[in-house]
Amino acid sequence: MSATADVCVVIPAAGLGERLGLAQPKAFVGINNWSLLSLTIKRVLEIQRVGHLIIAVPADFKNEALDHIDRAMRESNKKIPVDVVAGGITRTESVKNSLLALDQLDSYVLVHDAARPFVPAEVFNSVINKLDQGFKVVVPVIPVSDTIKTVNEKDEVINTLDRSQLKAVQTPQGFARDVLSEIYATSNLKPTTDDAGLAEIAGINVSTINGSVESFKITTPFDLEMATSFMNRKQNGK
Ligand code: CTP
Ligand code: MG
Repeated sequence: MSATADVCVVIPAAGLGERLGLAQPKAFVGINNWSLLSLTIKRVLEIQRVGHLIIAVPADFKNEALDHIDRAMRESNKKIPVDVVAGGITRTESVKNSLLALDQLDSYVLVHDAARPFVPAEVFNSVINKLDQGFKVVVPVIPVSDTIKTVNEKDEVINTLDRSQLKAVQTPQGFARDVLSEIYATSNLKPTTDDAGLAEIAGINVSTINGSVESFKITTPFDLEMATSFMNRKQNGK
């Protein structure tokens, strides 16, 4: 572990994976015998500065999660403190519950979805570098390749958005610890699909770094198929 292992990674893994439609929650679905949760933990453990993990899982999966964590840590040959907490109904609630387990040593908190197991280590390090420069909220983004239109409830197009201004947002989303605690402490917490959304509501500047196509989120059965091919290709050194 490096001298300043002051980065905490929060992994929301408490979703049910309804769009994937399998019997177990998505984070516990396996690719080549490794769950998405354990693949994600293995990747996070490659980051030197990470000294603490907080993982939100469905309440009745806490014991099973410990097995997945142990296996990832044994494989990585790195053991760091980990808290497993019960998630909530929404992702926002799962992250809020996770933040109760923050430690005084955690200067930065990076929130990273269990559903993005192939995020390159460089993306984590770019987020940390930008936080080191004093930016308080940092998110990885990639250009959008599709044309994006807004559509009304009658399935008619309203208009076309200017693609040059659009970005797809990924995780890990990085925060100065106090900023994240503060935006989640508000009494009328609005569920958002990402954490930076709460910073925006609070009027806090959000900075961006380059994300990666490899950091795609596994949402649908097709994504899981892609993930399996991607992992096999990587294992074959291609
Ligand atoms: N998540 C969570 N708690 C929730 C909902 C989501 O911790 N109540 C986590 C998921 O486990 C996932 C990440 O947030 O790692 C992104 O959410 P998403 O991809 O939407 O996953 P699910 O909510 O599980 O999938 P679905 O929306 O299809 O049910
Ligand atoms: Mg969801």
